[in-house]
Amino acid sequence: MQDYTLEVHGCHSYDCTGAITEPIYLSATFRHPAFGQSTGYDYGRVANPTRAALEKTMAELERGGRAWALSSGMAAINLVMQLFSAGDHVLMSEDLYGGTVRLAGEIYSRYGIEFEYVDTTDLTLTAAKIRPSTRAIFIETPSNPMMLISDIRSLAALAHDHGALLVVDNTFLSPHFQKPLTLGADMVVHSGTKYLCGHNDVIAGFLVMAKGREDIAGQVELLVKSEGPNLSPMDAWLMLRSLKTLGLRVEKQGENALALARWLQQQPQVTEVFYPGLPEHPGHELHKSQATGFGGMVSFKVQTPELAKAVLGRLQLIAFAESLGGVESLLTYPIAQTHAEMPKELIRRTGLDDRLLRLSVGIEAVEDLQEDLRQALEG
Ligand SMILES: Cc1ncc(COP(=O)(O)O)c(C=O)c1O
Repeated sequence: MQDYTLEVHGCHSYDCTGAITEPIYLSATFRHPAFGQSTGYDYGRVANPTRAALEKTMAELERGGRAWALSSGMAAINLVMQLFSAGDHVLMSEDLYGGTVRLAGEIYSRYGIEFEYVDTTDLTLTAAKIRPSTRAIFIETPSNPMMLISDIRSLAALAHDHGALLVVDNTFLSPHFQKPLTLGADMVVHSGTKYLCGHNDVIAGFLVMAKGREDIAGQVELLVKSEGPNLSPMDAWLMLRSLKTLGLRVEKQGENALALARWLQQQPQVTEVFYPGLPEHPGHELHKSQATGFGGMVSFKVQTPELAKAVLGRLQLIAFAESLGGVESLLTYPIAQTHAEMPKELIRRTGLDDRLLRLSVGIEAVEDLQEDLRQALEG
């Protein structure tokens, strides 16, 4: 089935009423038909029919074997971290969402897991960092916020040659544009709060496991059952509703983003534009070989830090806010928001600075977005 169809219909099966939308099962517990029998649902933390419908849909969309719908993107990344043990070494892209770096550095490092940051756009450099204890390579592509592109196929092959896993945070593109599991990755994580939700009204996350990885799926299942990081049935239903328009939303966001990236390049106050859809982006060709769209995220640098802050204050239509992926356009100041707690050394290596703004392009008329940015840049 094609993505647009899967997004609308998901894994919906009609119940006896013929309901077109998935029912919301709020029941925390389920009656057993008799001793030793189950309907497949016993207790809400372990399984819930509304959440199960969403999980099956996400597994299909990512072409994975199994998916878990979770209470946030961080809950999904947290499950990945819990697959490692003391003495394990994990390689991470050096340009990553700040919350992932905080979780690794401030929580899991305490348990003896070693995290090392590397420029994963450079395969030779990444290969040189592999050790016998390397258990995984964790990447974002495009990365947050510098929009760097890493080669999913080659990194998967590299990880597998050393008995390690490749984990891809696919938040920036969604499975509509990129399916890392079909390129060799073992696991995909998402902040479902972003494009998958698309309306800035649900905090959610997903972990999707590649087909044939029942060994690790069993470990994740044990963690989910034991710890209860699942998504509530109400939020699962909202996510199912959001997924129905995923393709339409992200296509329009991508169209708007490309137009704005080209326009930003021509503005005298803008010194650099980072968007993989621009032919001059160093990862443009690689990105085209592994994704079907460029996404709705555009980062750019302005002449001075003062101008960056002034732009945030002058916006009329676009909101100065954290987060991304919704139908409303948002502008973020990564150095003070999403990446405020990043180690200084990493910030310096990636080129993220106080002149960088990150635009999450919505589905508004592009002319209105352009006009708002124009007046904010000109002052
Ligand atoms: C790329 C990326 N991954 C993960 C997360 C964490 O997701 P959540 O905020 O849903 O916990 C974010 C949040 O901004 C993100 O941008």
